[in-house]
Amino acid sequence: MKKKIAVIGKGKFGSQIATILKDKYGSEYLFPTRKDKNKTDKDKTDFPNISINNIKAVENSDIILLLTHPKDASEVLQEIDSVINNRLIVNFTSKELDSQHPLLNVACSPVIEGRITTILYNPNEKVKKKDIEMFAEIFKPLAKNFMECDNSVAELGLMSRIRAHIFNYYRDLLKEGHNGSNLKSHFDHAIESLLNSEGIENQTQKAQTKGGFTEEINNLYNEDNLFEKLVKKEKDVINSKIKSIQEN
Ligand SMILES: NC(=O)c1ccc[n+]([C@@H]2O[C@H](COP(=O)([O-])OP(=O)(O)OC[C@H]3O[C@@H](n4cnc5c(N)ncnc54)[C@H](OP(=O)(O)O)[C@@H]3O)[C@@H](O)[C@H]2O)c1
Repeated sequence: MKKKIAVIGKGKFGSQIATILKDKYGSEYLFPTRKDKNKTDKDKTDFPNISINNIKAVENSDIILLLTHPKDASEVLQEIDSVINNRLIVNFTSKELDSQHPLLNVACSPVIEGRITTILYNPNEKVKKKDIEMFAEIFKPLAKNFMECDNSVAELGLMSRIRAHIFNYYRDLLKEGHNGSNLKSHFDHAIESLLNSEGIENQTQKAQTKGGFTEEINNLYNEDNLFEKLVKKEKDVINSKIKSIQEN
């Protein structure tokens, strides 16, 4: 049986999540909310159940997705607390939350071309097997990697760092004066070969050749500590961003 889903905070990310859920399960199963009434009026055609009423959205649903800004998440959770009635809350914000009700903190990658690559979830002690089964039934068909983790905020931080390293490496190489089209083709090659393989471990094995191209390049980077410097710089920036989100 299809589940009814409250999407609390249908902003940028919430809209992406709501859209893939609508395409898969139908708009009649979705109960999205936002804060601004004018914006909900514009959304009525695609999402007939959209409103600014979080309480009603929760009461109409089997599962609650929390997608506000991290700074608003605790307040919204408090607002709906009396009507949650043991429904599963899935916290997509980067603010770690707890509740007297079943709650999953998740680390979710952005929606790109209608697909989520990764959803990692960390249950609180109220979460039962049937809650995980419901969450999996809804999201597993939409995500390539779907698994439990110990600390969703740490995983989200790691996910952000890896993305930032890749994008900043591209930017730094452009700054060094490399031809943009050639550079793009090299990044496409690296990313496509990872996508087409059975994972990064497999590619690492295949790409490493003794005394060959890959080893020489590795030695070159090790000599001037380029990677180490880049990784340290990005790690510091992202850690301080995560800390400030948590403190909000
Ligand atoms: N962007 C991503 O790729 C991504 C990936 C993973 C996780 N996230 C997480 O997703 C969350 C949202 O990010 P975003 O970029 O989508 O932000 P956003 O566009 O600002 O969306 C926040 C939404 O929350 C709504 N809202 C605020 N207070 C509310 C309330 N009391 N009741 C109901 N709705 C309320 C806002 O309503 P109005 O529209 O009416 O103002 C807005 O629609 C963040 O916590 C972020 O960490 C984002």
